[in-house]
Amino acid sequence: MQSEFFPRYRRMRRTEALRDLLRETRLHPHDLVLPLFINDTIDAPLEISSMPGVFNFPESAIAEQVQIAWEAGIRAVILFGVTNHKDDEGSDSLRDEGLMARMIRAAKEAAPEMVVISDNCFCEYTSHGHCGVLRDGDVDNDATLANLQLQVRVAARAGADLVAPSGMMDGMVLAIREALDEGAHEDVGIMSYSTKFASSFYGPFRDAVDSNFKGNRLSYQLDCCNGREAIAESIQDEAEGADILMVKPGMPYLDVLAQIRQTCTLPLAVYQVSGEYGMIKHAALAGALDEKQVVIESLNGFKRAGADLILSYYAVQAAGWCR
Ligand code: PBG
Repeated sequence: MQSEFFPRYRRMRRTEALRDLLRETRLHPHDLVLPLFINDTIDAPLEISSMPGVFNFPESAIAEQVQIAWEAGIRAVILFGVTNHKDDEGSDSLRDEGLMARMIRAAKEAAPEMVVISDNCFCEYTSHGHCGVLRDGDVDNDATLANLQLQVRVAARAGADLVAPSGMMDGMVLAIREALDEGAHEDVGIMSYSTKFASSFYGPFRDAVDSNFKGNRLSYQLDCCNGREAIAESIQDEAEGADILMVKPGMPYLDVLAQIRQTCTLPLAVYQVSGEYGMIKHAALAGALDEKQVVIESLNGFKRAGADLILSYYAVQAAGWCR
């Protein structure tokens, strides 16, 4: 038993100080990005029934929520508009006085140093709930790109630091980069939802944004079974000029996250989506899981797999737990 080569891994796990010293990944509040839902039809916070503890906030609450996040050590928020003004094209998001622009301005005003990220998609603003313009029952890629170019300029004029296209249109990063540069917004960055799967883990999000959406997004989002195609999508967005890549959802796709980390050099984000939040929260409420420990474990899993940034509905709570 006392061979020179006998493995003694436990030697380095003996005390808390040793474990602290040798931890390979660490979670920090600065790693976390907080998603916020802003609803233009309510005047008090409204809890999302499938996501206990997560709220739709009225526009008047933006300043407070952004300040709470900043105090917790969070340095970036991503804003989702929940609007009553939906139409076929999502035109509310193309107006400088629309919800998307208003919420960016409010967040920037409340905390000028906070990195404000605009989720740039159309599903929250279209009456049919698809991520772009429909033609013959499917999303028209290039017509949607033209609208995205208008939308990101609205976001940039309102003061967004980063735009985050989440619609999985082909060529979206290139089109957006061109539109921003032509509009003299060279400083606005692109966090692309570069590898986004068509996932049933988005279920609670669709409650949250009050989407009328029926059907699926299989003609534009990735098939959950396709790993190689998933890597190609991020390689493509890196080549088109993205500043940050993303894998979404998180936990079922850690293999993809780890491979993109090996293949691409850009900063990499992961999105712990609404269904992942819901699974942990509902299990915790049922007494089946220790919420804090499970959240910390899941977020560290993302870091270990290679994520630099984590978008999570637990961001504010987790920032408190990891300090
Ligand atoms: C919009 C968008 C979605 C999410 C983020 N941006 C929904 C979707 O693609 O259906 C999901 C976020 C979550 O589930 O937490 N395209």
